[in-house]
This record gives sequence, structure tokens and C-alpha cells, in this order.
Amino acid sequence: MNYRHAYHAGNHADVLKHIVLARVIEHLKQKDAPFRFYDAHGGIGSYDLGGVEAEKTFEWRDGVGRLFSMDGAPLPFSEEVENLIAPWRNCVAAVNEAGALKRYPGSPEIVRLLLRPVDRLRLNELHPVDYETLLAAYAPDRRTAVSRLDALMFVKSQLPPPERRGLILVDPPYEKTNEGEHALRMLTEGLRRFATGVFLLWFPVTGDGLDRRILDAVRATPTKHLWVTLNVRKPRPDGGLAGSGVVVINPPWKLGDDLEILMPALAERLSQGEPRFEIKFAAP
Ligand SMILES: C[S@@+](CC[C@H](N)C(=O)[O-])C[C@H]1O[C@@H](n2cnc3c(N)ncnc32)[C@H](O)[C@@H]1O
Repeated sequence: MNYRHAYHAGNHADVLKHIVLARVIEHLKQKDAPFRFYDAHGGIGSYDLGGVEAEKTFEWRDGVGRLFSMDGAPLPFSEEVENLIAPWRNCVAAVNEAGALKRYPGSPEIVRLLLRPVDRLRLNELHPVDYETLLAAYAPDRRTAVSRLDALMFVKSQLPPPERRGLILVDPPYEKTNEGEHALRMLTEGLRRFATGVFLLWFPVTGDGLDRRILDAVRATPTKHLWVTLNVRKPRPDGGLAGSGVVVINPPWKLGDDLEILMPALAERLSQGEPRFEIKFAAP
């Protein structure tokens, strides 16, 4: 396990993933009944944008750094877009002191900040050092439990939630060649145990066709789903992350409308030349 999210935290892919994640959470909160959030690949929860890792790549500058100025002030979009990204913006503001953009919240922190006292978090991370960091930061929260399992084991052992309402984030590092297929297996196993769960899978767009394979695979399932990709530039043979996407299975019904408003604005703001987004919705 070589991947450390600290090198990439706050990049354009995190911005897309976390804005969609925050929208899903906000929609789930529309109903009073409690729900449970599962982070199968939790990372460490919160990241130092001035840390050694972040300063090796500066990826965040073309991500969160395009939505906030260095003094932590929002670089605003239209009012309509701002209303939709407000929950995510509030999370970024919450981990920073006023007047500075120095930290970026990961998915555990975003969800911890957005969940209600009745909701529950189950965080998982396999890397031994990152697991200890995650445990130290989140174990004190009475709503939260932290585990160190392989993500597939985590999904298999945790689902379904006792509340019968839940959101599962599958966010692997895609270090190995078969990791896309492995991630899809997590969805299949998860859906087998919890068919009504909301599943959010993140994937990279690098030009290797993984985005289309994921679309084909979810289309073959009898699920309602939303698939969205944002390419900030054309994929290049020298690699790098040209874009990313998320697929949401059993999406909250207004999420599609949110994406129609959000994606043109995000594509324009995060563009590194020839940005492109695609949204596909299917219902059986
Ligand atoms: C992309 S990062 C997660 C970022 C986090 N979800 C966020 O949005 O802030 C992927 C994480 O998965 C962990 N990981 C890699 N393989 C794993 C596995 N088989 N099971 C659980 N975690 C794994 C890595 O150590 C890394 O911290």
C-alpha cells in the first residue's frame, strides 16, 4: 500500500467527490429517520495543505484553491450554485481558521460535520499509520466507530445497517490494475446485502476506459443510478488525472437536478483546458 491521500487532498477530484457527497448527505437529512454513513476507504480525515506531501504536488491549488482564495474567502459562483455547495464550503471553513486556507477536510470530516446527533459514522482505513490517525481523531465522537479492515470485508461485515438507511462511500486508490473491477465487486456485494442503500463510488478518468466500464457495469444492474464525470482537460499519454467521476446508486431524487446546475460551473472553474462533463441517469 503506497497510496497516501495527503499528496492529493483538495485536488479537483476531491472537490467533485466531496461536493456530491455533501449534497447526498443533505438530501438524506430531509427525512427525520436516522441513517448510517460508511467510509470504506477513510484516509486520515483532514489534511494539511502546507504539509510535506501536499507541497510535493500542489494539486490542491487546481482544486479547492480555485474555489477559495488563500485568505480563506470564497471565490463565489452564482447564487444558485452557491446554495448547493454551501454545505461543502462550510466544512472547508470549519477546518480552517478565519483568514486562511491551510487545511482541507476529507470525507470522514465532511460527514462528521454534516451528520445529526441521531446519525452514525463507520469509518474504515487499512493503512496502519493512517488508521491510527483516523482512530485518534474520530474515536472520541460518540456517533463514530473506526475499523482497520480490507474495504471489501468492511462492506460485507457492516451491511445492512440497523437503521435500514445508509450511505456507503467506496473510494479506493486505484493503485492496482484490477482495482476498478474490485470496486465494482464491493458494490455488488454491498447491494446484495443492502439493496436500498445509497452507494457512492469514486473513479479516476485517465483515458484507460475505466469510466465507461463502470458505466456499463452499473447499467447491467437493476438499479437506479446517476453517473457523472468531469474532465478538467483531455487525457494525455503521459498520464496524470485528467478527470474523475462518481456513480451514485439509489440517488436521492433531487440529486440529478443539483448536478445539472453544478457541473457547468465546476467544469468552467476547474478547467485546465477543454473541460468536459457528462451526466447519465438510468432507472430500471
Ligand atoms: C482516495 S483515499 C480515501 C480518501 C477519503 N475517502 C476522502 O475522500 O477523504 C483511499 C484510501 O484507501 C486506503 N486503502 C487502500 N486500500 C485499501 C483497502 N483494501 N481497504 C481499505 N482501505 C484501503 C488508502 O490507504 C487510502 O487512505
